[in-house]
Amino acid sequence: MSNTLGIRGFDFVELYVGSAKMVAYWYAKALGFDIEGYSGPEYGNKTQVSYFLKKNNLKFVITSFTKPENYEVSSFVIKHGDGVKKFSYLVDDVEKAFNYAYENKAIPIKRPIKIEDENGYIVEASIKAYDDTEIVFINYDNYHGIFKPGFGKPRQNINIKREETYIEKIDHIVGNVRWHEMDLWVNYFNKSLDFETFVDFGPGDISTPYSSLLSKVVRSKDNIIKMPVNEPYIGLKKSQIEEYIQEYNGSGIQHIAISTNNILKTIEALRNNGVEFLYVPNTYYEDLRKKNFKIDEDIDDLEKLGILLDFEGEGYLLQLFTKPIGDRPTFFFEFIQRKGKTEGFGHGNFQALFESIEREQALRGNL
Ligand code: FE2
Repeated sequence: MSNTLGIRGFDFVELYVGSAKMVAYWYAKALGFDIEGYSGPEYGNKTQVSYFLKKNNLKFVITSFTKPENYEVSSFVIKHGDGVKKFSYLVDDVEKAFNYAYENKAIPIKRPIKIEDENGYIVEASIKAYDDTEIVFINYDNYHGIFKPGFGKPRQNINIKREETYIEKIDHIVGNVRWHEMDLWVNYFNKSLDFETFVDFGPGDISTPYSSLLSKVVRSKDNIIKMPVNEPYIGLKKSQIEEYIQEYNGSGIQHIAISTNNILKTIEALRNNGVEFLYVPNTYYEDLRKKNFKIDEDIDDLEKLGILLDFEGEGYLLQLFTKPIGDRPTFFFEFIQRKGKTEGFGHGNFQALFESIEREQALRGNL
């Protein structure tokens, strides 16, 4: 099975941040990435620096500006704070993918361009997604360098001690959009990328009286790309999606879910490395024990590490969300392990997590 655009999978994600060196260090120290490449003045890049980080199938690029006249990066960071500027699909043929998207009403940002150096060439192009986000189509079949032209070996100490985190690849990338924009973006992706809507969470599906959202998931027809899109919904208090839109100053990437084959080891290592996660009240595990689900894991271990469980399809998934990783309550990570045949996103956990948080609030008399 394949998809119309010849997409092989998610490829790199690029964040624009205030200080690339410090953020790259955190990705290495806390998340367990290896710093494999660097681009900056030493390699002819006069107004910005980028660090290329890799771990198994995960590739992250962390970029910041070094000169104020680099408006693309500086204006992004001033407006949004640290955030995801680009995410990419590895494709068989960049021109073919871009042309299909363009002919089907994708908004073009960069037309296909071949970039070369002594290690060969890459081809890339990009289209718009959300406000200031780009989807890049990239192909490196004829490139043998570290990442892409302009990147060389890192110039600083990269032997950073941390615990092995066993993170593997991107499972899904989630966007938050303004009121009434969800269908606009869902239709845009479905048409321009030939994706399909997989699940819909309508009014009341993911809501408590206090935290409410609407969500649709678009995916490639072979299910290798999954992209939920959330919009705020009416509740007694401000929707968490609306808070994001205000703090980020627009629509953008809310979270990236990273999959692992051993979430117990992953979460333990990430916690030891200093990553902060959303608090899961022990009432969640009391409820879980009552349900008597058959799972490979011990619920005591899940409770100790604060891992959430959701049954769906012919399997179950284990997941946990970090606190926002930057200075604003915007972008965060999810870590997920799918067991058996699952296609969903922990819908049951959204509900359970919000409800648990509110029960705790009630116990403190704050609800
Ligand atoms: Fe997610």
